[in-house]
Parts: sequence; C-alpha cells; structure tokens
Amino acid sequence: MPSTVFTGIAELVTNDAALDGADHTEHLGCLHDAAVVVQDGLVAWVGRAAQAPPADERCEVGGRAVVPGFVDSHSHLVFAGDRSAEFAARMSGVAYDGGGITSSVNATRAAGDDELRALVAARVAEMRAQGTTTVEIKSGYGLSVEDEARSLRIAAEVTSETTFLGAHVVPLEFADRRADYVEMVTGEMLAACAPHARWIDVFCEPHSPHAFTEDEARVVLCAGRDAGLGLRVHGNQLGYGPGVRLAVELGAASVDHCTFLSDADVEQLAAASESTVATLLPGVEFSTRSPYPNARRLLDSGVSIALASDCNPGTCYSSSIPFVLALAVREMGLTPAEALVAATAGSAKSLRRNDIGVIRAGGRADLTVLDAPSYLHLFYRPGVPIARVLEPGCRADHAPLRP
Ligand code: NIG
Ligand code: FE
Repeated sequence: MPSTVFTGIAELVTNDAALDGADHTEHLGCLHDAAVVVQDGLVAWVGRAAQAPPADERCEVGGRAVVPGFVDSHSHLVFAGDRSAEFAARMSGVAYDGGGITSSVNATRAAGDDELRALVAARVAEMRAQGTTTVEIKSGYGLSVEDEARSLRIAAEVTSETTFLGAHVVPLEFADRRADYVEMVTGEMLAACAPHARWIDVFCEPHSPHAFTEDEARVVLCAGRDAGLGLRVHGNQLGYGPGVRLAVELGAASVDHCTFLSDADVEQLAAASESTVATLLPGVEFSTRSPYPNARRLLDSGVSIALASDCNPGTCYSSSIPFVLALAVREMGLTPAEALVAATAGSAKSLRRNDIGVIRAGGRADLTVLDAPSYLHLFYRPGVPIARVLEPGCRADHAPLRP
C-alpha cells in the first residue's frame, strides 16, 4: 500500500504524552501546523509539517483540525423495531425500568439475518459519518441461544469489540424461572456465544424487576471469565446499587452508566483506576430525563473515565459522539479537553487497547477530521455535523476551510 502524508492540519490532537514539541495542556498532546504519515492502516510518523518525511501521496486537509477517531466503547446496535412512543412517554414523565426491552427482543427475533445485518451496517455508517472509528457492539436483544449467537455473529462482521449480553433482562418466557435463565446464560448460551465475543456484560440493577441481582450478575460474570471473556458491567443506572462494587471486585475493564454513585463507589473506582474505567453515557440521561452523573467529581477523585453513546432503541437512540461530548461539557462539569480525552483515550482504555484513541507512530491510523480549525469547535458548535472519519488515501475532498 502506498504511504500518504496528511498536511495542512491546523491543529492535531494526539493524546500522546511523549510527543516532542507538543502542547500537553490537559493531556491533549496538541501540535499546530502538523502532518501525519499513514501506511497500511498505521501511523508511520507524526510531527510538524515542516519536518514531514516524503510519502507516495499527499493529502491536504485545508487548515482543519484532526483528532483521534472517536472510540465508542458501549453500544447495542443489533436490534430491529422502534420504541419512539416509549421515548415520548418518558418525556411526559413515565419512568424507565427496562420493561421496553421485551419489545425490541420480539422485533429482533422476528427479523431475518440480512435485515439485521443491514440495520447494523446503517448504524455503523452513521457513526463513521460522525467521526467514530471503533465501536463496541453488544448482543442482548436475542435472549435465546440461537438469537444471541446470531446477534454476535453479525456484530463480529463489523467489529472485533463484541460483547455477549445474554444477561440483559430475563425474557418473558423465563419470568417465573429466573434461576433457569441464569443457568442457560452461563451454560448453553455462553458456549454458543463465546466464540464470537471478546467481552461479557450484565445488566446488574436491583431497581429493575427485569434485570439481574448482584448474586446473579456475579455468577454470569464469573462464568464468562472462565470462558476467557473480559468483563464489563451495566451498573448504578437507575439508583444506588452493587454494580460498581461488583465490577471492581472482579476486575472488570469497565462499569457503565454510573449515574448514581455513593462516596464508597467513587473511592473504589479511584483505587481501581488502572484496571476499571467508569464509562459515562450522558445520551441516556438525556433520553430518560435522568440526572447526569458528576464527571468532575470522578476526575477530581482520580477515577478513570470514558464517554460512549450506548446507542440502543430504548434509553438512547443516538449514535453521535459529538452529542455526547457536548452533554459531558455542558451538563457533567468536564472541560472540552477532558471530554475529548474521555471519548478517545479513555474509552480505548476501557477496551484495554493502546493502539487506538491516540495518534502515535505504530498505532492505528484512525483519524477524525473536523470542518473547523480547532477541536474546541466540537463543543462551540453543538449540533453542527463538523466531524467525520478521515478516509485513507485522500479519497475525501478537503477544500480549504474558510475562516
Ligand atoms: O444500556 N440498561 C440496560 N440496557 C440498555 C437499554 C436497553 C433498552 O432499553 O433497550 C442501556 O441503557
Ligand atoms: Fe447499554
């Protein structure tokens, strides 16, 4: 593959603390008048444009900002059906309790493979059109052995970050037999799904009659760990509860939502900041009219945080990381720089990856270009579609940016 040098980068956010000559304010590793050389999908060189080595092709980005591609470390893209009426009811005051998941399960089970595949592909394309270069995708709307395995097979066609979420809710046909469902999830279903999954997740939530208790969640996670899967947890979404404690106890890579956190939860997350990331999903608070978690308190306490979309049909049908970034700054007390780091390097850490979420030689060439001279415009111009993935080989048109 020919090498390409991207030039005309007014501002390059690298997240690389070791980059020579960069302005490291707020961990961004920011370079001005920068260039990046890309070959075979990897970054070969990063630095000031004046020092760029020769390359086979040259792509001028016209005075734009370039940032690490967004890492969306939490999504549920494999589903069919529509729950917009449930959203409207919530906006009129109806509370979310996970009960609507049944409707998505029914629609997903009824969909053909090609229909589901097309739905997933369209949602991934929507994400790329907004600057996301890595997406984690969970199952969880099949809830039978066949339908969970099928969901993961389809997810694995578009990402290596696949997560088995058979323990999303107890399906209706098992409503009076919860223990039997947990036994199936940890037995036959796990065996069918593990070959297609990197992670296992569980909706641990005592405030929902449909989700799983601490003890049930521990059994599910330990079975997944024994099958070689990494651990993730949906926790502390609807009220104070055991999710964070359990995630830290088991060394999960991520505990997601963290909407209701006690002081003890925050202390445990801070002590586990090298291993367990608190993944915040403010699109959910927006779409369920819930209070936003206090991200400022988490960062000031030494907790590792990530930001992700949670794109799903119930609690947040938005695939937009720029929307999440804007909410995190406006509603959760983060600076723009902290929010951008959380949605790139932070979410990469929650996936235990160091080849993404950063622009450095040897890492993946996952670059997002902004129709703006600075990353600050992601926050300064909310709702304006300025972010998109920078295609390799200069296939996109980059007319000079007008002031
Ligand atoms: O992450 N909380 C559990 N699962 C999803 C929502 C699922 C749904 O309502 O369809 C979430 O919010
Ligand atoms: Fe989720």
